[in-house]
Amino acid sequence: MTRFLREHGQLTDDWVPAFEAAPRAAFLPELIWAHDMRTSTNQAVDRRTDPADWERVAHANVPVTTQWDDGAHEGPDPGRAPTSSASMPSVVTRMLAALEVFPGARVLEIGTGTGWNAGLLAARLGDERVVTVEIDEAVATRARPALQGAGLHPEVICCDGRDGWPKGAPYDRIIATAGVREVPVAWLEQTRPGGLIVGPWGTHFGHEDALVRLTVAEDGGASGPFLDWVEFMKLRAQRLDWDLFEHHVQEYPGDADVSTTSLTSAELGAANRYDGTTFILGLLVPDCTHLVNERDGVTTVWFFDRTAGSRAWASVVFRPEGERATVYQSGARRLWEEVVRALEWWRAVGSPPLTSFGLTVTADGAQRPWLGGPAHPVPAVTLRE
Ligand SMILES: C[S@@+](CC[C@H](N)C(=O)[O-])C[C@H]1O[C@@H](n2cnc3c(N)ncnc32)[C@H](O)[C@@H]1O
Repeated sequence: MTRFLREHGQLTDDWVPAFEAAPRAAFLPELIWAHDMRTSTNQAVDRRTDPADWERVAHANVPVTTQWDDGAHEGPDPGRAPTSSASMPSVVTRMLAALEVFPGARVLEIGTGTGWNAGLLAARLGDERVVTVEIDEAVATRARPALQGAGLHPEVICCDGRDGWPKGAPYDRIIATAGVREVPVAWLEQTRPGGLIVGPWGTHFGHEDALVRLTVAEDGGASGPFLDWVEFMKLRAQRLDWDLFEHHVQEYPGDADVSTTSLTSAELGAANRYDGTTFILGLLVPDCTHLVNERDGVTTVWFFDRTAGSRAWASVVFRPEGERATVYQSGARRLWEEVVRALEWWRAVGSPPLTSFGLTVTADGAQRPWLGGPAHPVPAVTLRE
């Protein structure tokens, strides 16, 4: 794996000794699930019955799920939701590169998982410089002996990483290996001014995340650019609760307003969730979640309002034979119009890519995405009747 990552320019020389001291295979349990990014499927591989395949997967550049449904799921079939994993190696190297560690740096990792990333950090910086926190007792309990087996001894704490780990603060670096929808204020408070926070951030508009690197300022806030697309399982307390939308659509389309649009499903990000559309829509259209359904050649893009007490929704139905898609919109909040306005704004500013955007988190926890610099927050386009 180390050779593959180096040959593909994904592992810099400074990290090579750590990758050799802490190989991913040393941190994986016997039963793992190889995630196929192309098909979004998961293949169980058991070392006890298929050691050769297990070795192949352990050393491959694929994410490997190690727990489903917070541990409630057993057996080789995939569960409903992956809840712990060893991340894709090329994502791990990108995140570590973005972290810009230096000798003597003190690092807090959020989300121990298998312990692999904490092992890499400990191999690079020294055991005493690294603390890693994991919310799941069983996961933390597995990671400790895996680390010890590799001769590495960073501090592994079982707690909610939302609170950071104040006893070990201040840190020069915090690296989150679970996605957040809000960077917790505790992380800002526990990082030295000038220190960095690196992790996956996004909105509940969609599941995708962008890797953000925030520099903590003297005033206790932090700001920095989005670097790249990633997709992570979310911090437990910040998972989207889909039950919120259970009562949004009482009857369909009911008395929803009906109109049409010449926009295509691809222009709404339905074809490629990493072309930036849905992430950027999520920056502009607050408290909204979107969902894409494909059935019998019909693509429906849904938008649900997450504002407390609101059941506003919109749907856009794309039929293979139709030239224009049908739009349904229900509730006082004009979600579809907000989406159109957001797309118009993005086009008007030249459809800039992810890396032109960034995030400021204020000392009191407000999350403010910007375009081109912190002085230029992206506009919110909320519309109500
Ligand atoms: C993608 S895995 C981390 C991968 C890990 N760094 C590794 O090298 O194997 C995400 C982990 O974050 C943990 N997690 C989720 N929410 C958390 C929270 N609030 N505090 C700490 N850990 C959390 C999950 O239990 C899971 O083990």
